[in-house]
Amino acid sequence: MNTEKVQGTNDSSIVSKLSMVNKGYFHDPYIVHFVEKSSRRSPLINRCYFARAAVISHCVEAFLKGCGSGNQIVSLGAGFDTTYFRMQEKNLLGSTHFVEIDFPDVITRKLALAARGGLFSEPCPTKNNPDHVFRRSENYTAIGFDLQLVGDELRRILVDVGVDVSKPTLFLSEVVLTYLPSKKSSNVIGWVADTFPHAMFTVFEQVTPDDSFGKVMIRHFNQIGSPLLTIHDYPTIRDQIQRHRNSGLKTTTATTLSRFYYRCINLEIRKKIESLEIFDEFEAWHRACQHYVVLCSTNSENDDIQNLVTRMFGGDLIGESTVTIRYIDNIIITFVQFSGAEIPVENASSIDCCNPVTNSDCMQRFGHCSCVTQLQGLEYAIVVGGFGVQSSKLSHQRLSDSILAVDLRSYQLHPCERSEDSHLLPCPMHATCVSSRNGQVLVFGGRSSPNKCTDMITEIQLFPCISGSWTYRSRIMSLSEQPRPKPRWRHAAAMVYSNSETECMVVFGGRDTTSVFYDMWIFDTEAAQWSMVDLPLDVSPRHSSSLTAMDDSTCVLCGGIGLEETPLDDIFTVKFEIGVRCVAVMSRLKMPMSPKIYSHSSIMCNGTLILCGGVTFNPHTRYGDEEVKDAIYVVNLREPTLARFELSCESPALLHNHSCVWSNDREEIVILGGGDNCFSFGTYFVKTPMTLKVEFKNSAMCD
Ligand SMILES: C[S@@+](CC[C@H](N)C(=O)[O-])C[C@H]1O[C@@H](n2cnc3c(N)ncnc32)[C@H](O)[C@@H]1O
Repeated sequence: MNTEKVQGTNDSSIVSKLSMVNKGYFHDPYIVHFVEKSSRRSPLINRCYFARAAVISHCVEAFLKGCGSGNQIVSLGAGFDTTYFRMQEKNLLGSTHFVEIDFPDVITRKLALAARGGLFSEPCPTKNNPDHVFRRSENYTAIGFDLQLVGDELRRILVDVGVDVSKPTLFLSEVVLTYLPSKKSSNVIGWVADTFPHAMFTVFEQVTPDDSFGKVMIRHFNQIGSPLLTIHDYPTIRDQIQRHRNSGLKTTTATTLSRFYYRCINLEIRKKIESLEIFDEFEAWHRACQHYVVLCSTNSENDDIQNLVTRMFGGDLIGESTVTIRYIDNIIITFVQFSGAEIPVENASSIDCCNPVTNSDCMQRFGHCSCVTQLQGLEYAIVVGGFGVQSSKLSHQRLSDSILAVDLRSYQLHPCERSEDSHLLPCPMHATCVSSRNGQVLVFGGRSSPNKCTDMITEIQLFPCISGSWTYRSRIMSLSEQPRPKPRWRHAAAMVYSNSETECMVVFGGRDTTSVFYDMWIFDTEAAQWSMVDLPLDVSPRHSSSLTAMDDSTCVLCGGIGLEETPLDDIFTVKFEIGVRCVAVMSRLKMPMSPKIYSHSSIMCNGTLILCGGVTFNPHTRYGDEEVKDAIYVVNLREPTLARFELSCESPALLHNHSCVWSNDREEIVILGGGDNCFSFGTYFVKTPMTLKVEFKNSAMCD
């Protein structure tokens, strides 16, 4: 353990905390005194640090209110945390003795900064003290001590400063124990359980190191020299719970940060938080919060303390899912049977997943769109825009000039050069594209930043060359002003046909800077005209859903994310009658339990809907971690039934912000791109396109 680097984690987290405080997320007038040089963080980082501050305050306040007077708080690895000052301001401390422990250097710096900011009312010497106690006042003690050495000496120091081991005592570890070797961090938990008969332990730290997001997270901490040492031995919430139970802290409760945010913070506060900054990083936000756990445990037999712990995050909900693992070739497929859902296991199809494409450097992108088109009798996936790596340049950027053609027989990728008389894509991220019969690609909407989006349609024509250098010509269609859909991004689109003749692009939902839409539009490609569709059902506003053609005039609309920023689970079939008025006949599929999903891609395959990747989570499950891993859902629209397969291919994926197409030649799904900015840990691209071969073993899954 490199203690200098580990101490440095405090310096970076305090800057992020100040950034979110300055933006108005959280009231903390003290934190500014502990930051030498402030820096503005992204809306994503601000929001994550808000959720972290909120969950810690929630636990501390619940303890202070629930455990009566005479209790104690020991903050382990307190760093420059300001909980003591904030609780005092709120008059919640009463006679509570608040003890902070960190390395001597950190404590010395903290006390100096607090003194400079005038945060202590009475003066107190802050020089090093042979007995580790750096400051002692009536209700506050600062101790410089290496937690790797917990044992009798620390017990003696605490008793000497007036800590009563028999009183209810809250131990806080906010991203601390994970930096200790796992044996040493277990020693800390065991020592607390053995020494304090009425201990309540609150741990907040990272989990799930093995999925793609987790791997980016682990790499980040390795690179900055403060690796997460405990996470590999306790990778899941259940492992963390078991660890506390094994140490004698038998009563436990735990939740992911995402489940805490959506279940324990009331809607009014969330709405206020969500309106503070323009935000369009939903996937990274949800994924980041799924990788942090907060756990409370106690060894106390006292009913009040036990109730406090078990009700800390609203109590338990639905039972756990049952999981069975099957191996197909060298690919592990985990079949998860949702509790409560009746899924015919024997009918589940098998899914084969591999990474077949070779020259795929230029595929490093996310937030793009794609469609299939026929060129010179061959089938190509056309990949348009997004954010990522432009083949000639190293930096990541918006790809307003980047179009790829993927030969769906050989999986060769062809970057296409823009012709001189062409337009750049005005807004290359989160647009949609469909292909028309004449081989053109129509790109609608999209954004360049969350402040700027478009209602334009760009028409793209590709020119394959035998020499291998492809070109494209693009032009922005000129359309009459009225009526037409508002500018938007993250909408869904598909192509349908009226009487198998008139070709129409259907567009549904999406968002702009301030609103989420629920309108549906049809664009007649020949007349170059928009018409609004009368929708018979109340479909709630949503973006990042999928719209997939089932046949010439029917689509399936699935999932998305709504006004409350949580994934939606409804699936609709939409049948169009296109005439003078455009009418849609809609029906909502009645599923025993459909996935709450968004930012996925979908394909119809043998009359079965396949949902690839996406972000799924359900705040109403037991711990909130049930659906973290990338998965494929197979939805039998007839029954209707559902099967879920977790993917574990050799190269890990972060399957959202991607696209997928169906290869007729190969009869398989091709997944293109995907990835994200993973919190502050780094950007991840799904480098290689993947193919999924879905075999239907039982005709019940087929049409
Ligand atoms: C990421 S910071 C968190 C600080 C604070 N808990 C917060 O959330 O703002 C990790 C802190 O744990 C402290 N820490 C890590 N290992 C420690 C050890 N073995 N003994 C004492 N403190 C330790 C570091 O010095 C650092 O202040």
